[in-house]
Amino acid sequence: MANRLWDKGGAADAAMLRFTARDDYVLDENLLVYDVAASAAHARGLARIGALEAGEADAIVAALATLRAEIEAGHFGLSSDHEDGHTAIELWLTDRLGDLGKKVHLGRSRNDQVLVAMRLYERAELADLAELAAAAAKSCLDLATREASTVMPGYTHLQRAVPQTVGHWAAGFAEGFIESGRILLGARDACDASPLGAAAGYGVNLPLDREGVAHELGFGRVALNPLWSQTSRGMTEVVALSAVWHAVALARRLAWDLSLFTTAEFGFVRLPVELTTGSSIMPNKRNPDIVELTRASCSVVEGALVELMSLSSLPSGYHRDLQLTKGPTMRAFAEARGILSAAIQVVGGLELVRDRMKDAVTEDTLATDRAVELARSGLPFREAYRKVAAEVGSSEQPAGERAEASVRARTSLGAAGNLGLDRLSASLERLREEISRSATSA
Ligand code: ARG
Repeated sequence: MANRLWDKGGAADAAMLRFTARDDYVLDENLLVYDVAASAAHARGLARIGALEAGEADAIVAALATLRAEIEAGHFGLSSDHEDGHTAIELWLTDRLGDLGKKVHLGRSRNDQVLVAMRLYERAELADLAELAAAAAKSCLDLATREASTVMPGYTHLQRAVPQTVGHWAAGFAEGFIESGRILLGARDACDASPLGAAAGYGVNLPLDREGVAHELGFGRVALNPLWSQTSRGMTEVVALSAVWHAVALARRLAWDLSLFTTAEFGFVRLPVELTTGSSIMPNKRNPDIVELTRASCSVVEGALVELMSLSSLPSGYHRDLQLTKGPTMRAFAEARGILSAAIQVVGGLELVRDRMKDAVTEDTLATDRAVELARSGLPFREAYRKVAAEVGSSEQPAGERAEASVRARTSLGAAGNLGLDRLSASLERLREEISRSATSA
């Protein structure tokens, strides 16, 4: 039997086949279990409209359950002989069930088959990444709680600006990661529409039970118009990766800060030895490679996003170009897992050099507080500003106790003296509830 579903006799050029199949047989390993689930739902749907006998659908579903177990046990793999995973599954079914295996493709195309598998895969990945974003938020929140009153300078333009606390710095990242989690769940929702039944992008002459199939697969809705379902491929992935970008760009900022703070020049934090690497020539070095690669990995996600945007420039209908949306999507998800896991590890392991941070809060950084105080006692703010500017100079004397007093006085909600960590904990709790709700509807 030919290894291509579209074989109708006549030889296909081997180099052309390699060029067009590319690494689908590798990438589709990630989609097999989802394709199996969607194939079973499709077969049951066909039986409901009388396009398959009930017994036939049962036999297909039972065979697919066996196949799923084989996939999970690692006994079913794809090889370069298979054009893609969909082909491998249909050939396996035909091998096992004979002519019945050849019936499963009635009413669908590989175009909606790959769409549905990708969406199921993306929903799961995005929910997992939302969970990792929540875990990153938790580690930042824990640090903020432990170090709520540890003073350090706050910077603008990378110049010392006003005093802040480690708690203030870390709570900012916690809030950001909670936002990332919400955005990731929003992107999951964009993937939560079932394309099955779109077939090649124009529907088929069967009264397919699209809603029943969508429901069985846990989708929130049907992607109604077949042509839109088809042409959303690529655009959906751009949405997914934009959400991923939010989380990894935040991790990159964290990494940037830490790559500065770990230098001898700042000397604010140290990484534990087990999170550092060495140099092959300089015996003195302990390098923060984990921080640097967290920063760099974000570029991989951005590159993938640009690939997807560019691939989404197509006229209506299916085009084989769309096959290339799989690689960047999967690459970005894998990178994001790595980035967020590394960020969690780094935040959990940070060793703070509190005296060094406190000494870096210099007298001059109290200037804004002083201008505000003068204005509170009646001077118009602009005059207070000028008066302090004339007095302040560039004193690099440590502010000492006055640093702590400065942050304690910053009492409006969210600022260093009133971080609102209980509110952040409550938001994190709500995010976690939403994540588990989305997992149970999968
Ligand atoms: N591997 C293909 C893809 O990802 C499957 C769909 C093939 N469809 C087609 N009309 N050739 O797009």
